[in-house]
Amino acid sequence: MLRTRDDLGMRPGATSMTVANTRRLHMITWGCQMNVYDSGRMADVLAPLGYVPTATPDDADMVILNTCHIRDRAAEKVFSELGRLRVMKQAREAQGHRMILAVAGCVAQAEGAEIVARAPYVDIVLGPQTYHRLPEMVARAARAGGTVIETDFPAEQKFDFLPEASAPRGVSAFLTVQEGCDKFCSFCVVPYTRGAEASRPEAAVLAEARRLVAQGTREITLLGQNVNAWHGEGTKGKPSNLGHLIRELAEIPGILRIRYTTSHPRDMDDDLIAAHAEIPALMPFLHLPVQSGSDRMLEAMNRRHTAAEYLAIIGRLRAVRPDIALSSDFIVGHPGETDADFQATLELIRAVGYAQAFSFKYSARPGTPAAGAALQVPEAVKDQRIQEIQVLLRSQTTRFNGGCVGLEIPVLFTHHGRYDGQVVGRAPWLQPVHMIGASTLIGTEIRVRIVEAHTNSLAAMQIPTPFIEERACA
Ligand code: SAH
Ligand code: SF4
Ligand code: F3S
Repeated sequence: MLRTRDDLGMRPGATSMTVANTRRLHMITWGCQMNVYDSGRMADVLAPLGYVPTATPDDADMVILNTCHIRDRAAEKVFSELGRLRVMKQAREAQGHRMILAVAGCVAQAEGAEIVARAPYVDIVLGPQTYHRLPEMVARAARAGGTVIETDFPAEQKFDFLPEASAPRGVSAFLTVQEGCDKFCSFCVVPYTRGAEASRPEAAVLAEARRLVAQGTREITLLGQNVNAWHGEGTKGKPSNLGHLIRELAEIPGILRIRYTTSHPRDMDDDLIAAHAEIPALMPFLHLPVQSGSDRMLEAMNRRHTAAEYLAIIGRLRAVRPDIALSSDFIVGHPGETDADFQATLELIRAVGYAQAFSFKYSARPGTPAAGAALQVPEAVKDQRIQEIQVLLRSQTTRFNGGCVGLEIPVLFTHHGRYDGQVVGRAPWLQPVHMIGASTLIGTEIRVRIVEAHTNSLAAMQIPTPFIEERACA
């Protein structure tokens, strides 16, 4: 039976400081931003039990691997990490200490049974929708031998059971508003690992945003596997939409910047596009994955839009927000992809001109429709195509970043850099920006001059003048 927060003696907002018996928690996180958010929330759930974060696994009382199943290599990393942790767990046990080893996230959801078979020393296997029950799982793992497995999709939403954040999330923070996916793209495991699409109510999102701001957050990135399909209950009890949610968030004093990711082209509605024109806090950057530029492939992928429809959305976004920068994901070598299909993808990339983009070789995922499809593309062809697409995408990023040199732009500084006296922040178009400057700049947004462009970042210097006209990178 699931116990409530009160049964477990948890108070919302309680921290490890209130518990004498401190235990160390080490987490390793792979995958998307949603996993980063989930790791933070798992730490919140465990804080009232006395768990405080530790940077290394060797002295940890509990280690959680928060895993990703999106591509074959991502999943394999988990098993090699488990082998390493097994040795540490045994060494700790030889010294009379317990190390609880938990595998969470999308590999746990998809391959729970395989984890137990290949790594029976794992104490807990839990899916992405059950981590609000972690305290109960820890108690069961401490009592019983064998592995505790919780990979169902519970009727209750985990968000209703999570305590408030146990530690500040920093100047820039993630906030999950939507989970799961009903799109069933041919290649993708997400609908199976994260379950059906579900949106958090607007009031819950706004309350969490206010708490983040009170703890010093200035930029919020709304997260969802299909974030622009968000249709959470609005304040009047009716389903709302993402454009409206962004407008409400922008009203919260202290929020300087809003972003959202990841969006699906099908859900890019008029209101959301209009929000890009109307809300200054909504940053002029959009990650809008298209995957392929070939209509034949888009159909095979079950993406439910054409290349022309995608380009039309980009055109509408640019019409209302000319300085908007675009990003995308691409898959090369999906089953059936011919050279002509691949050329169509390169053409689409040239037509859009991306600020940055990610590209992946198709990886067959068990249980997905494409995995069993005929006409799998040979590895050598995938290798050749990935090289070609990456050369093109890199050249676009270099051009975009190079076009920022000499501009004076607002940067929100978020943390210290690697070198003494260096602070790091983000440009409106998401590039990291490095600058020599005082620590007091962290948490503030100021205009700086971009002096250098690197492959994935920009260098800046401070300017004394408060305002010079801004323009987008070329
Ligand atoms: N919800 C997002 C993407 C989630 S997964 C969307 O709809 O676009 C992140 C990216 O991983 C995808 O955009 C896709 O490019 C890539 N990806 C997903 N499954 C993959 C697979 N089987 N092989 C290679 N890349 C994959
Ligand atoms: Fe995966 Fe497609 Fe859903 Fe994105 S929209 S999460 S690629 S199934
Ligand atoms: Fe990976 Fe799961 Fe995210 S498969 S990309 S961690 S939703």
